[in-house]
Amino acid sequence: MLTLLLAACQSDAPSNVVNSAPIVEAEDGTIAYEELVVGYSQIGAESEWRTGNTDSIKEAAENLGVELIFSDGQQKQENQIKAIRTFIAQQVDVIGVSPVVETGWDSVFQEAKDAGIPIILVDRRADVAEDLYTSYLGSDFVEEGRNAANVMVDLLDGGGTIVELVGTIGSAPAIDRYAGFREIIKDYPEIEIIASETGDFTRAKGEEVMGDFLQIYGEEIDAVYAHNDDMAIGAIRAIEAYGLKPGEDIKIVSIDAIRDAFQAMIDGKLNATIECNPLLGPQFFELALKVANGESVPKWIPSEEKIFFPEGAEEILPTRRY
Ligand code: AHR
Repeated sequence: MLTLLLAACQSDAPSNVVNSAPIVEAEDGTIAYEELVVGYSQIGAESEWRTGNTDSIKEAAENLGVELIFSDGQQKQENQIKAIRTFIAQQVDVIGVSPVVETGWDSVFQEAKDAGIPIILVDRRADVAEDLYTSYLGSDFVEEGRNAANVMVDLLDGGGTIVELVGTIGSAPAIDRYAGFREIIKDYPEIEIIASETGDFTRAKGEEVMGDFLQIYGEEIDAVYAHNDDMAIGAIRAIEAYGLKPGEDIKIVSIDAIRDAFQAMIDGKLNATIECNPLLGPQFFELALKVANGESVPKWIPSEEKIFFPEGAEEILPTRRY
């Protein structure tokens, strides 16, 4: 049985805030999905992965009946900070945020804490004190970098030159995938990372930077390590334009496991992709509801991820949702 608590009873609630509408609470005082109001600050739309992530968040909110206030930060931290401040003013129940870069969140997260609004980090971590966020839902990016390196070592048979396409500078996946990769590669003295530049997680930048690498190093390049599939796909274009065969003349390993990566593996142009799961919507709202109801939740909920190779890619592609 549900008890209706009229907002009119809450005389101190501003009239323009989202949850000034009547709040429906269960008799035990907990709220249901239909009563939950969530502000979500997304990074932008830089990659296919990000589009899959946004779709997952929006679809889950709709299916569960959660009121979602979604903001696209267009790759700018200042936009994300502004959105979080708006969510605080709107007195949402929970704020979800995928931080574009790791640092610079302390003040705005403190403001949310002071307002009694829990922050859940989704997909990317922020470099803040542990008491400034409730939970982190997302991947182990260091492990993804290690996995990419182990695959690369096999592909190069323990020796060769690598160029690296790095993600957005200062972002958690770029920092961790860079570090995890090196953690493994350092034990192989015959493998050398000869160049490392940001491609900002986009196809266009990946293509441009790979084009520059080819101008400088040409056929000296044995392999590409791309921090995401979109940059790898850009690199494939640049390698073809240069007159070499991606996947054969130059081995390529990347991260995400988007549908286009499976197609590239089927076409023999990509040698492996390390999965990074963007389908976090249902888990995020389950977590948000628990947090809104005062339940304790783990500080980190890691995603389970696989490694995919060209073998089997054709059968797997139709099952991929992003
Ligand atoms: O934070 C996850 C990363 O961000 C994905 O690997 C990348 O494609 C995205 O833009």
